[in-house]
Amino acid sequence: MGLFLCLLLFFLASSASACDRCLHHSKTAYISNDSTLSSGACGYGSLALGFLDGHLAAGVPSLYKEGVRCGACYQMRCKDKKLCSTSGTKLILTDLNLHTNRTDLVLSKKAFSALAQKGQHYNIFKRTTLDVEYKRIPCEYKKQNLSVRIEESSQKPHHMAVKFLYQGGQTDILLVHLRPVDWGSTFFMSRRHGTAVWEIDTAPEAAVVFQLRVISGFDGMWVTAERVVPADWKPGMIYDLGVQMDAIAKGQESCRKCDEGHW
Ligand SMILES: *[C@@H]1O[C@H](CO)[C@@H](O)[C@H](O)[C@H]1NC(C)=O
Ligand SMILES: *[C@@H]1O[C@H](CO)[C@@H](O)[C@H](O)[C@H]1NC(C)=O
Ligand SMILES: *[C@@H]1O[C@H](CO)[C@@H](O)[C@H](O)[C@H]1NC(C)=O
Repeated sequence: MGLFLCLLLFFLASSASACDRCLHHSKTAYISNDSTLSSGACGYGSLALGFLDGHLAAGVPSLYKEGVRCGACYQMRCKDKKLCSTSGTKLILTDLNLHTNRTDLVLSKKAFSALAQKGQHYNIFKRTTLDVEYKRIPCEYKKQNLSVRIEESSQKPHHMAVKFLYQGGQTDILLVHLRPVDWGSTFFMSRRHGTAVWEIDTAPEAAVVFQLRVISGFDGMWVTAERVVPADWKPGMIYDLGVQMDAIAKGQESCRKCDEGHW
């Protein structure tokens, strides 16, 4: 009972911020050296340059949430109508921004440039900061399933470290369990502090099914992979888990009140 209540309160508390679809007003700036973003705190490495065509962002600690928000997507537009397009651009969070609290998100040059309207891509770089509004959105990968990438730091047979790719953007991953296909036990992974990496020192020598506790809107739910990661997994490989997180996020109806229809 006590434990149940604790868990309930935990999910209610964490979901209040997971339902984060309202518009936020802030300033933004760009980072001139993109490699600082691609080698960002989330730990995606150069892989990040392939996400959303390199439209990367670093978030302040309140957005970054110790790595829980790694892979989250945002739509941002600037308020200067002469300089910027009305639709703005999509971003993906890959880094933590500790240098300033004046900008919620700082952007890669490519993302900053994408805020500009036609003909203004040169002029926008004359500005060091821009007033912007932004909101969290689904990432909408072109039909890509949720996948795991096995980290090079993994050491067979028992140390497995992974990152999740194509996680959908509006779902936060809270827990990761491994279930061997052939026997009924559960192995628990833990998040490497402050990053998008999950790891375990006691991985079973077996094909495993990934099971994720995610939070989307106000609801916590379990997502079970439809495809296994084989026993002969290898560092550097990416395995398709056969489920789509965007579909799951859209299925949640409880987070509508923040959805501002006009943009
Ligand atoms: C960009 O940053 C990376 C890592 O922080 C550094 O190795 C590289 O020299 C920098 N490049 C430039 C052009 O400043
Ligand atoms: C923001 O940064 C300024 C200067 O670094 C600091 O004085 C201020 O306390 C910070 N505010 C918050 C809310 O962290
Ligand atoms: C995603 O997973 C489903 C179910 O396993 C599969 O049918 C589909 O081909 C996968 N999509 C991609 C892009 O691999």
